[in-house]
Formats: sequence, structure tokens, C-alpha cells
Amino acid sequence: MSDLRKTATSAEPLHPLLAERWSPRAFDPDHQLTDRQITALLEAARWAPSAGNSQPWRFAVTRRGSAAHASVLDTLDPANQVWAHAAAVLIVVAAQSVTADGASRPWAAYDTGQAVAHLSVQAQHEGLAVHQMGGFDRDRLAALLAHDPTVTPLSVVAVGRRAPADGLDDLDASLGERERAPRQRLSVTDLMLTVGPALVADHR
Ligand SMILES: Cc1cc2nc3c(=O)[nH]c(=O)nc-3n(C[C@H](O)[C@H](O)[C@H](O)COP(=O)(O)O)c2cc1C
Repeated sequence: MSDLRKTATSAEPLHPLLAERWSPRAFDPDHQLTDRQITALLEAARWAPSAGNSQPWRFAVTRRGSAAHASVLDTLDPANQVWAHAAAVLIVVAAQSVTADGASRPWAAYDTGQAVAHLSVQAQHEGLAVHQMGGFDRDRLAALLAHDPTVTPLSVVAVGRRAPADGLDDLDASLGERERAPRQRLSVTDLMLTVGPALVADHR
């Protein structure tokens, strides 16, 4: 695996599974996930919390080399296709945003993102890398999901082993530059909201 590290800088030390996770574009095109690894990723997602334990997340796992993988790859934005083709699997992530009897599930997207966060941490533990993508053709991807109107595709997740350091050279120049760039975040201060007195009063 690539020795390129992009460790998160933080005011307090983070667990290494969190601090060392990042989203690569250079994947090893010869690597395959084992069945056990795929099971571990899905189990991690399965045990995420959800509103009312509704578990709205749904997944389609496609392996590189399969017809299903080629179909999913084809729905990605060209800017994603150029690197995502090399990842061992592409996982379609969808949420059952409406129940079978038509009731809406307002937390479905929130819950499903949380399940993917679990999956990402488990992947890091397995020595794998994850790169989530929102850049795909929603209608075409939805059409691949057996035309189930209750299920909304939310992302496609590339999972694989990061390419060896010289694999970065296979990316075009601008992607190689992004691959090596340090990771950026807003500061914790920037994330803070203020709860004003009027809002508190409204809820008394
Ligand atoms: C919902 C979502 C959609 C994303 N869509 C794309 C995408 O289409 N293409 C891409 O290259 N990266 C995509 N990303 C990856 C983000 O750009 C990346 O997570 C962010 O820049 C932070 O970098 P890090 O994961 O390495 O910390 C997406 C991430 C998420 C969570």
C-alpha cells in the first residue's frame, strides 16, 4: 500500500483509524477484496444506529471485472470514472426513504450516511481505503436498482487498496497533485452555533 500519509491534525489526539483515514484516488488495479472483508464492511454498516432502528440503508456491492461493476462505473461522472475504475469494488449506497406503505422516513439519508461512516472505519481497520462519490447520474443509477421507487441512491463508494507510491504516477497531473495535497478542515470554532435566548424560550 502507498506510504502516503495525510494524518489529521487535531487539538486532541484522535483514534488512528480516524486520523489516518483519507479518500484516495490512486487504487491498486490488481487488488481484490476477500469475501470476508466485504462481509466485515457490511456488518459494520449494519450495526450503525438509526432513527427508531429503521435501518433504511441498502447496498449493492459490485466487483471490478463484473458486468454490474461496469454498469455502475458507467453512471459515474467522467471525472470520477477516470480513477474509480481501479478500485476493487464499487458499492452503491441507497436509502429506503419511503416505507412500503408510503410513509416517509425523514432520517433515512442521515442514518445511511452514518452507516457508511461505520463502513469507512471498518475499512481502515482492514487496511482498505474508501472514497465516497456523489458525482453520478441519479436517474441511471436508480434504474439499475431494480426500479424500486422506495429506494433512493445516495452515493457510490469505491473501496480497495491504495496504490503503491509509484501508482500515483498513473493519475493525471492535476489528480496527482490533489492526491498529495494535505487534507483541509474548518476549525472547530467555525463549526460552533450559538443557541440564543429566544430559541430556548420557544421550547419551554
Ligand atoms: C457525500 C460525498 C460525496 C462525495 N463526492 C465525491 C465525488 O463525486 N468525487 C470525488 O472525487 N470525491 C467525492 N467525495 C470525497 C470528498 O471530496 C472528500 O471526502 C473530502 O474532500 C475530504 O477529504 P478526505 O475524505 O480525504 O478527508 C465525496 C464525499 C462525500 C462524503
